[in-house]
Amino acid sequence: MKQIFDQPVFLLGFGGVGRALARQIVASRDKLARRRGLRLMVIGVADSRGIAHTTHGFDDDALMRLVALKEAGAHFEPASLPALPANCIVVDTTATDATVPILLNSLRAGGGVVLANKLPLAGDLDWFDAISAARARWETTVGAAMPVIQTLNYLLDSGDEVQRIEGSLSGTLGFIAAQLEAGISFGDAVREAKQRGYTEPDPRQDLGGKDAARKALILARMLGYRLNLSDVQIESLYPAEMDALTVDEFLREADSLNARMAQRAAGLTRGGRKLRYAAVIERGACRVELTGVDPASKLGGIRTSDSIVVFTTRHYQDNPLAISGRGAGQEVTASGVLGDVVSLAGPMR
Ligand SMILES: NC(=O)c1ccc[n+]([C@@H]2O[C@H](COP(=O)([O-])OP(=O)(O)OC[C@H]3O[C@@H](n4cnc5c(N)ncnc54)[C@H](OP(=O)(O)O)[C@@H]3O)[C@@H](O)[C@H]2O)c1
Repeated sequence: MKQIFDQPVFLLGFGGVGRALARQIVASRDKLARRRGLRLMVIGVADSRGIAHTTHGFDDDALMRLVALKEAGAHFEPASLPALPANCIVVDTTATDATVPILLNSLRAGGGVVLANKLPLAGDLDWFDAISAARARWETTVGAAMPVIQTLNYLLDSGDEVQRIEGSLSGTLGFIAAQLEAGISFGDAVREAKQRGYTEPDPRQDLGGKDAARKALILARMLGYRLNLSDVQIESLYPAEMDALTVDEFLREADSLNARMAQRAAGLTRGGRKLRYAAVIERGACRVELTGVDPASKLGGIRTSDSIVVFTTRHYQDNPLAISGRGAGQEVTASGVLGDVVSLAGPMR
């Protein structure tokens, strides 16, 4: 019989992605044992208030009870972080940089780290350096489970020279751009995106462009650009004064931006160009902005709710290498996180 390796895993964050991951770990047990000789042992889960922990790993029923508890809106009991086994894989599906000390400790002890959370890689350059040089994976920080990070690492490792990365990295902003292009007013586009559940509870978190900028920054840093978020040129789709409004006020007053946005969209789409909110990383710089693209280009050809990343390299010049597909969603993101965990799992290497 195949020998099974027990891989301890600690989950930081037990929201939509964290819980989908727990369910997928349970659902994939047989396949992982067969394919990889692997058993993922969830030894602890943490939310913003507390921790549930057991040294030998939760059995599947206990793990699903924790999922149900969180789905009912409860929180874990406050507790300090237990000592983790040296080979533990810490999975960060939070959206805070408060986890960074735990991640760095784990890496120093020889453990592994898997991130869906962008902040540790888009914060201090020192954090990026420490994490990216260690036993870490962060596939889902850009384009959910699409193999963007793997591909970039492959291009870099294979000696190719990446000259430009261009991408549409936000499904929400892709949707808004498509609505504007179709002549729908900015206010209606934002309210529709919110109503369909495409935006964060506060849509300004998407419209401000910072989330897309963080994804672009992670790619730029992987290229060796020594940039911080403040170096990324970010086009916000609303003026900073509107930060003082409540969400409801903002949703109402978004109409005050209609004329300006309609004019901008008309200018960018002149001659049949397609409107996109795009990231461009080249020549040491990085920007995210509304832009008009050739309909025949890779960026022009995607379904607007999808994400795309296009690599122009020495070997992929006239026909750049593109990866596109569903770039958001808790289930697909959790599957990417699971893939990362499995790729790091096993006896310490
Ligand atoms: N959803 C997507 O499509 C997608 C795609 C790619 C990447 N991501 C990234 O994945 C991450 C998770 O997304 P999500 O949709 O699952 O978010 P979410 O539902 O808001 O879950 C976040 C979780 O983090 C917990 N948390 C907050 N601060 C914490 C702390 N200091 N220590 C431990 N846990 C803490 C929260 O605790 P409480 O339960 O107590 O609030 C919650 O359980 C985000 O960084 C997001 O950007 C998401």
